[in-house]
Amino acid sequence: MTEVSVDSAAETGGCPIAYPSLESVACPYPIFAEQLEQGLQEPEGDGPYLVSRHETITHVLKHPEIFSSTTDLNAEAQPGWEASVFSSDPPDHTVKREIAHRTLKPGRLKAYGPMIEEIIEGLIDDFIDDGEVEFVGQFANLMSSEVMFRLLDISREEAGWVAGVTFEGIGARFLPHSMQLQQEADGARLNEFMLDVVRRRMENLGDDTISELIRGHRERTGEDDIDYLAVEASVFLLGGVLTTAHLTGTAMRLLLAHPDQMAAVRADYSLIPNMLEEAMRFESPLQFMPRVTLEDTELEGVSIPAKSELILVYAAANRDEKQFPQADRFDIRRDGVRRHFGFGLGTHFCLGAPLARLEGKVAYESLFNRIDNIRLADPEDDGGYINSAFNRGPATLRLKFDRVVG
Ligand code: HEM
Repeated sequence: MTEVSVDSAAETGGCPIAYPSLESVACPYPIFAEQLEQGLQEPEGDGPYLVSRHETITHVLKHPEIFSSTTDLNAEAQPGWEASVFSSDPPDHTVKREIAHRTLKPGRLKAYGPMIEEIIEGLIDDFIDDGEVEFVGQFANLMSSEVMFRLLDISREEAGWVAGVTFEGIGARFLPHSMQLQQEADGARLNEFMLDVVRRRMENLGDDTISELIRGHRERTGEDDIDYLAVEASVFLLGGVLTTAHLTGTAMRLLLAHPDQMAAVRADYSLIPNMLEEAMRFESPLQFMPRVTLEDTELEGVSIPAKSELILVYAAANRDEKQFPQADRFDIRRDGVRRHFGFGLGTHFCLGAPLARLEGKVAYESLFNRIDNIRLADPEDDGGYINSAFNRGPATLRLKFDRVVG
């Protein structure tokens, strides 16, 4: 793990500054500023290189033939993940991605619209009479998990527990040992569950995402590979639940902290998509991604040997002043905000981005239509962040509101 030296303790709020680590959760931005200033950080021992600058990360993501996704950091994260679309390289990746993309194409997405709206309106119905809501637990998490459950055709009764778990993926390596053990247990439980779902689904294909994955794999190889399919289905489920919930929760948190921008976006719904992108940039739900070098190469004038692990700190690059002037300012009207790495870039660009964007848009339109004067239930308590260096999002967000009348 790379130690980042920050001159002033006041700048970091006095928190420890190893990155990535759980300790950096409370105050990552001064650490990112330091990383951006210093540039590429070489590892101590066998740790990863830290890459933070926007320009350098763009270069890395545009050269998958050198910077591979088949990294041990991914393989360590969940058993079998090395086979997934997420962790493979072209040409294997190209085929897997085409199959995975089938259920997320624009035509399908259009059809999901009414389903998403129905879920969101139902969730608002459930709390609107109370005048208050714990926005993360009663809305954001339930929304994103319900959408993924419907796509995969699995029920909340059997899979609801997944929505409550922080799957760390590659972040697991940077957790304390006891949490690593918990991650392994959760990963094994998810894998067992998915093996069972895929086994049953093979007997009875439908038009859900898991059935599409099974069909695509049969077309490609002529057989059923249950272990691979369970992993791919898990990537979908995990890819879409916590991330989208965090985007939704983070956007609310930021709007509450910027009442003028809350008023502006309420008055003009056409600002909602850019507001969501700015929230993604400002507090990226996935903070970093790994790569490994397939050959000797160079970044920022530093020689990097083959087989080196890299951590691409997307959340730091999203605060790079060279790309985003006044990067520490939340600005829902920011030009060029889509250059953020919240969804990655290039060959592995998030397949679920259009779905996450749609969920966020419908969520905020519906919320603004029905509740007003949204405020923290306790002005002193913004709920804090979840305990994870890899995922970033509000732990809880207790709100009060008035009902929109008329
Ligand atoms: C706000 C919500 C989301 C965020 C922040 C997010 C973030 C990301 C990022 C950063 C990547 C790129 C990984 C890399 O660079 O190696 C990615 C890939 C991926 N995401 Fe998302 N994601 C979100 C929503 C979703 C949803 C809703 C789904 C599923 C429906 C999904 C499925 C995937 C898949 C399958 C990949 C792998 C693509 C590939 O490797 O070719 N994501 N996501």
